[in-house]
Amino acid sequence: MRNPLPPVPGKLLELEVSDDLRRGTPLAKLIAAPSEEDGDAGLAEIGGVRPTGKAGDVQTVPTGAVRWLAGVGDGEPKQYRKAGAALVRAVSSALEEDVKAGQKAFRSFAVELPEDAGAEHIEELAFGLLLGGYRFTVTAEEPKPTLRTVRLITRHEGDLERVRELAAAAAFARDLANTPSNVKTPAWLADTAARVAGGIPNLTVTARDEKWLAEQGFGGVLAVGGGSAAPPRLIELEYRPRGATTHLLLVGKGITFDTGGLSIKPADGMHLMRTDMAGGAAIIAAVRAIAALRLPVKVTGLVPAAENHVSGSSYRPGDIVRHYGGKTTEVGNTDAEGRMVLADALVYGIKKHKPDAVIDAATLTGAMKVSLGVRTGGVFATEDALAERVTKAGERVGEAWWRMPLLEDLAETVRGSLGDVRQAPGGPGGIVAALFLREFVGDVPWAHLDIAGPARADKTYADVVPGATGFAARTLVELVASYA
Ligand code: BES
Ligand code: ZN
Ligand code: ZN
Repeated sequence: MRNPLPPVPGKLLELEVSDDLRRGTPLAKLIAAPSEEDGDAGLAEIGGVRPTGKAGDVQTVPTGAVRWLAGVGDGEPKQYRKAGAALVRAVSSALEEDVKAGQKAFRSFAVELPEDAGAEHIEELAFGLLLGGYRFTVTAEEPKPTLRTVRLITRHEGDLERVRELAAAAAFARDLANTPSNVKTPAWLADTAARVAGGIPNLTVTARDEKWLAEQGFGGVLAVGGGSAAPPRLIELEYRPRGATTHLLLVGKGITFDTGGLSIKPADGMHLMRTDMAGGAAIIAAVRAIAALRLPVKVTGLVPAAENHVSGSSYRPGDIVRHYGGKTTEVGNTDAEGRMVLADALVYGIKKHKPDAVIDAATLTGAMKVSLGVRTGGVFATEDALAERVTKAGERVGEAWWRMPLLEDLAETVRGSLGDVRQAPGGPGGIVAALFLREFVGDVPWAHLDIAGPARADKTYADVVPGATGFAARTLVELVASYA
């Protein structure tokens, strides 16, 4: 039987840059919005169509060499991402229509850029083109012909090698998070990470099983994973380029499905919890890209992977769990499982690797989604410089971050009475969760990225389509690059 799932990772469009147009290739033209000089009539017609120039608008031209007009608005680089994404979607549907009409499918198209579009514009356009047409479907239908190549017609250059790896990281993270949880067991996640990262120089992937986790005392991972028929794993990715001195530890929440456990979630929306390993996915995809780009920084990725499920062997509210390293946690709510698995991984990673800084990424709290909405990630950090590094890295790749406070007056609430730490004491959810994690990091500079909001989208915007967004993967690559 054919595997009902799309291949992971999926294939990205090929990008070419050229200053000449190949005849016969369908052509799109990018157009800025009319300026005052254009007067009230607006822009001149092309093939009988008057372009609007509005970013995100794509108009079809019935005759002539140019088949699509894609608006870039005021021409800011950001608008090029929007234009690229809208364009690739329009071109893909045109291809589908052609096939339906019995015509031979074209597999490539070209985009003519305005003269004044420089490197930054080209890179933003490339993000839009590479990711805007992203799809993940599981169907019985034969795969349809899809676009293979896009040629950018410009005399300028951009760093497309970097954009390609960043886009591939976002797409791979989306693939992992979109994969349904009946397939995506912790073992599947570990095997997929090993398969995809395998063969890249200086990168090794190790998966530890439940037996190893028990021997080593990973009480948090075992408690959370204990209710599932699919046992937990710890995925460790080690990138060791020669000569690098700085060592960064990246830790990602890898909950392959979150029912809430015995503190079970309401049925409405529970299905969305298949993306509860989006933080782990971002880390796996980022480390792969960091190695592929040969960045001169040592990086260790750690993903504690477990399914938070309901059964006779589930952990319970009221349990006291001993983490890796010995600290104990009083469980208040089994739905606060992310921090349980992260606590083990943070202590283990810091003790074993002695990193210069630690960054974790997790779909940790619903509260964060309420605070910042679904397009901005929350950054908690023990050092201003690290928080700023994350925010700036995000700006460079088009991901928005907002700094959140580690409020000292709440630090007491996570200290325990029966155990060392209290897992779910109430109070502002995102902040309290961050303060809980801080109990496990010691003195190493640390940033915690809560991506519960932006890890998923229910609307199309910029280069994002509904489903998993791959959020944080690009920021993490760019963050690591800032240490090179
Ligand atoms: N995975 C959820 C957080 C989440 C919610 C992610 C919505 C994405 C969208 C997490 O494990 C969780 O359930 N957190 C609880 C913690 C609470 C019980 C202390 C929450 O935020 O409600
Ligand atoms: Zn939960
Ligand atoms: Zn969760």
